[in-house]
This record gives sequence, C-alpha cells and structure tokens, in this order.
Amino acid sequence: MKNDILKVLITEEEIAAKVQELGRQITEDYKGKNLLMVSVLKGSVIFMADLMRAIDIQARVDFMSVSSYGSGVKTSGVVKIVKDLDINLAGYDVLIVEDILDSGMTLQYLKEVLLQRKPHSLKIATLLDKPERRKVDLQADYACFNVPDEFVVGYGLDFAEKYRNLPFVGVLKPEVYAK
Ligand code: XMP
Ligand code: MG
Repeated sequence: MKNDILKVLITEEEIAAKVQELGRQITEDYKGKNLLMVSVLKGSVIFMADLMRAIDIQARVDFMSVSSYGSGVKTSGVVKIVKDLDINLAGYDVLIVEDILDSGMTLQYLKEVLLQRKPHSLKIATLLDKPERRKVDLQADYACFNVPDEFVVGYGLDFAEKYRNLPFVGVLKPEVYAK
C-alpha cells in the first residue's frame, strides 16, 4: 500500500505531536464546560480516536454520517444526514471533529443544522485545512495542518474507500487514480 504513495506530506510523528497539542488546548478551553465531540464519519474516526485520548476532561462522543446531494464532483452544499446523532445537543458544548475542511460547503450546512438544535456552543476542529479551495466564508476554530490543493489520503482520509489506514497523510502516485 505504501508503494502507492508519491510523497508524505505529514508524518506520523508530526500528526501525533499536533494532536497532543490540540488536546491540551481543548482541555484548557473546555474546562467547566459540557464537551460533546461529534465525529463526521468516516474520515474523521482516526483523528477522533487520537484526539479524545489527548483530552483530560470529561468528553462525550457521538457520530454522524452525511452524504452530499448533487451528482459527481459538483457538491450542492446540501447534505443528507445518513446517520444522525443519538444525543440531544441541548446544553452541550459541541465540537465537530472533521478530517478536512475543503470548500467548506459540507461543514457550513452541518453547522446550520446542528445550531438549530440549540447546543450551548458549537465549534469546529479539523485535522486538515485547504484554505485555497474555500467557497464559503467558514473557518475552523481549531485546525492542525494546512495542506496545498492536492488530493490527500491517509490517517482516515480515503481514495475510493482505500488508504484510510495509512498512519501518515500523503499524496498518491498519479497512476493509482488511473487504475
Ligand atoms: P467540503 O468541500 O464540503 O468537503 O469542505 C469536505 C469533504 O470532502 C472530502 N475531501 C477529501 N477527502 N482527500 C480526501 O480523502 C482530500 O484531499 C479531500 N478533500 C475533500 C472529505 O470527505 C471532506 O469531509
Ligand atoms: Mg469526510
């Protein structure tokens, strides 16, 4: 599998260090609050698993799964909730945990939907940020790494459901896409 990688953008060690740092920051920022971490399946599960263990206050977790409407690569920004949360958000300080903030369309919609459920607060933590690609005015409250406008895989991120289990973030060789 690692033979398919053209270059490693972020190493396992760099990710681990940043995730620990973010965990300390969230521990500080959410002291005395009622933290609920919401992971958007499936890309964010590895980040979620590591981040929650780097947080030293009570943190509840829940998962949701969304798919974007619209055909092919052109996303309409309207997402369908495929699996909704189990927990009622009222009174929680919700932190959405995402793998990557790209155009921002998905997260903007998700943010609107979750805000309607009246959480006490709502913030976004993303492992990766591709600011060049943004189509809406949305910023993550916490972002670990900026990445260039290239398709990246690993540490949860996939190409056709593959490469999620790579321990680093990298770019695939062009011939892999052609297969
Ligand atoms: P938007 O554009 O709405 O979409 O911010 C974010 C979602 O698009 C996927 N995405 C990627 N997935 N490598 C991936 O594996 C990438 O480089 C990439 N860029 C965007 C991802 O599912 C994310 O949640
Ligand atoms: Mg995703």
